[in-house]
Amino acid sequence: MTFTVTIRDTDIVFGCDPTQNVLDAAETAGWAIPYSCRKGVCDTCVGSLVTGDLDVPGRGNMCGPEDVRLCCARPKSDVVIAPKRIEQRTPPVRKRLTTTVYRRRQVAPGVTILDLRYPIGRRTPFRAGQFLNIILDDGDTRSYSLANSPQHNDLAQLHVRHEPGGVFSARILQQLEFHDTVEIEAPFGEFFVEDAADDTNAPIILMATGTGFAPMQSIILDHIARRLSRPIHLYWGARTLGDLYLLDIVGSWTRRYPWLRFTPVLSRAHPGWEGMTGHVQNAVISDYPNLSTHQIYACGSEAMINGAADALTRERGVDPVRFHADAFVSAVGAPAAV
Ligand SMILES: Cc1cc2nc3c(=O)[nH]c(=O)nc-3n(C[C@H](O)[C@H](O)[C@H](O)COP(=O)(O)OP(=O)(O)OC[C@H]3O[C@@H](n4cnc5c(N)ncnc54)[C@H](O)[C@@H]3O)c2cc1C
Ligand code: FES
Repeated sequence: MTFTVTIRDTDIVFGCDPTQNVLDAAETAGWAIPYSCRKGVCDTCVGSLVTGDLDVPGRGNMCGPEDVRLCCARPKSDVVIAPKRIEQRTPPVRKRLTTTVYRRRQVAPGVTILDLRYPIGRRTPFRAGQFLNIILDDGDTRSYSLANSPQHNDLAQLHVRHEPGGVFSARILQQLEFHDTVEIEAPFGEFFVEDAADDTNAPIILMATGTGFAPMQSIILDHIARRLSRPIHLYWGARTLGDLYLLDIVGSWTRRYPWLRFTPVLSRAHPGWEGMTGHVQNAVISDYPNLSTHQIYACGSEAMINGAADALTRERGVDPVRFHADAFVSAVGAPAAV
């Protein structure tokens, strides 16, 4: 039996099996609801249940009694819901592929860059900012942002932070050799730069902490490949300068492309550091008295994203629909300190 999902105050209606979650059913019907982890961890997909009955595992820590994580919610009756946002979108074409390891290099004390190659002739079109899922032997998944440009979609570059005790980053990754295989599914994600016609030149602020730089690299490489000149200001936060693991590449971009500005932000700066210190969101706040015409893209630690969403909308006039974020939450619900 298929139940009906109606979106409050719209004429949007789609079907959803009791075995299917509302996010998947919306996607299949051509409707995009914001999401990130798809595992009930990050709360990006939270919406309200207006009427009807949903089976919602793990409702702990929700803001209100009607709040539901739509990536886990399965209908038990016809329902009316109110997601934070819903947009018409062609259903994504995802591919599951067996990739091979091309290169693995440790670029900072806790960060490895992993380059994977797809089978010959296979490509996975994606938009800069999206991510893939690594499929582990037991079928569980780990999400990693694609750091390569969308123009090079026969490969995947991943920037992996080492999580102590992490199944993938602390165990599997450390043993991967040239030509070993890694199962992936791609692409996923609602985190990518909007280029609506009326917004094409709205300046962009990219805010990253740690390996949150990965999707920002893809966005900038895409900008370069498409010869765009929309102003971009990249803020990249880490504890120390050595943790900003691709500073030389960022330096080569800023020397070459006048539309790109870069501000490193250190939380444990060495003596003599003359740049920005503290939290990335505070650096943005101190540089920009008004951000009402900007689009913001934030990626990395949940703390930075929550802090930025709150401070930039409240204090700097950022329109919430122009604030886009992917929180690098842990697949098992533990805080990932990126
Ligand atoms: C959309 C998205 C994109 C992401 N992109 C990136 C990226 O580009 N780069 C990146 O570095 N990260 C990224 N992440 C975060 C990454 O997917 C998670 O940190 C992931 O959990 C790491 O997998 P792991 O197997 O190494 O660690 P896991 O096995 O998932 O463990 C993660 C942490 O939880 C702890 N832990 C394990 N089991 C338990 C348990 N049962 N109870 C409590 N704690 C436990 C571990 O000790 C470890 O510290 C992204 C996350 C999302 C949602
Ligand atoms: S996408 Fe639903 S909780 Fe993360």
